[in-house]
Amino acid sequence: MSGHGTPIPMTSRKGAPLRGEAHVPGDKSISHRSLILGAMAVGETRVTGLLEGQDVLDTGRAMEAFGAEVINHGGGEWSVHGVGVGGFAEPENVIDCGNSGTGVRLIMGAMATCPITVTFTGDESLNGRPMGRVIDPLALFGTQSVGREGGRLPMTIVGAKSPVPVRYVVPVPSAQVKSAVLLAGLNAPGNTVVIEKEATRDHTERMLVGFGADLSVEDTDEGSVITLVGQPELKPQTIIVPRDPSSAAFPVCAALLSEGSDVLVPNIGLNPTRAGLFYTLQDMGADLTFENMREEGGEPVADLRAQYSPNMVGIAVPPERAASMIDEYPVLSVVAAFAKGQTVMKGVKELRVKESDRIDAMAQGLRAAGVEVDEGPDWWTVTGAGFGNVEGGITAQSRLDHRIAMSFLIMGLATNKPMSVDDGGPIATSFPIFEGLMTDLGAGITRTNV
Ligand code: S3P
Repeated sequence: MSGHGTPIPMTSRKGAPLRGEAHVPGDKSISHRSLILGAMAVGETRVTGLLEGQDVLDTGRAMEAFGAEVINHGGGEWSVHGVGVGGFAEPENVIDCGNSGTGVRLIMGAMATCPITVTFTGDESLNGRPMGRVIDPLALFGTQSVGREGGRLPMTIVGAKSPVPVRYVVPVPSAQVKSAVLLAGLNAPGNTVVIEKEATRDHTERMLVGFGADLSVEDTDEGSVITLVGQPELKPQTIIVPRDPSSAAFPVCAALLSEGSDVLVPNIGLNPTRAGLFYTLQDMGADLTFENMREEGGEPVADLRAQYSPNMVGIAVPPERAASMIDEYPVLSVVAAFAKGQTVMKGVKELRVKESDRIDAMAQGLRAAGVEVDEGPDWWTVTGAGFGNVEGGITAQSRLDHRIAMSFLIMGLATNKPMSVDDGGPIATSFPIFEGLMTDLGAGITRTNV
């Protein structure tokens, strides 16, 4: 859906210790892929624990527009009756991906080698984001497109009628780009090869193998070489979606920052391409442990236990870890504000093209709240003032960005004065139960005007 209606101002304040268990929703990346790959398989895919956030619901609606049947059985149980690789029908209407970069870029890839024409749009945030990074490699398959200036949505894509396979070196560390090329490669004859120099989340590769595609990954001097044999028949799967580490980051960081807290966040996917924040927090001295480590559905999973950690110190985050925690820098910058010393975050220019320019969005709010932040095109530093020394007392702009809204609300649980955000509405894109889950733990988070 484009836009999300009336703004929902929210406020958070210091209060009781956080206690209990935080059952965060299903992984957003895996949820999108479950619906898209389910729609490209022949037969019925069953999905348990799907994230029912707006981003994923928009992808589900898009799959229906392409001819798949998407059924909500309730309680996080969904099924998708797929139409097979190359079987997408031409949608009768514009595909609106709302706020979701993952949704639109993966769907563009999935339809790019089908003989159909599709127009995509989104909300104000999504329509400002670069699509050239996906359109350029899709053109190599024979796809044509026309969009707004700067490769922005709305954009119409004419799928390749006689697709050819491609060999593509991904120029930016982006799982969305990698995945779009692989999904397009599914309906091209022969081998599509994607090379990535920096490892990004690998859910598409893992899930394609699960759906029966012939895909191999080789580590070479050039980087990771992913080879996909085109035109497989994907077999429907039963998928249990692990809980989202990017959502877990919020109750975990809230517990680290709130005096006396002890919170368990069970069943969190700890795929190494996603878990960078938790190792970074441990490096900073956080009292954060992984309990009951196990493997579920091909993904490593653990229960995270986070306790109040007043002695954290700033660190230089290893830049090679950036891709594995790219969505977690906003909330990390909040933790850094309470640590002692400087936290240095380098190699993060991708943060500037997310749902918002996340460096700018956080820097502005942090500075207004009394925190020292320095920034360059692909780096930023936060100089922590230590617990008890961060003033707060401002209203931050969430800029249609769920993670910015949630980060500032977590911050307000430890600042001297409450923190507000102008609009908590975007939180529903990825973490619709955030407010209830946090208040059940004891957090002082409220809607400002209600
Ligand atoms: C995602 C990839 C990342 C991430 C996004 C989800 C995915 O984006 O920021 O939230 O599911 O593939 P990029 O691929 O643009 O880095």
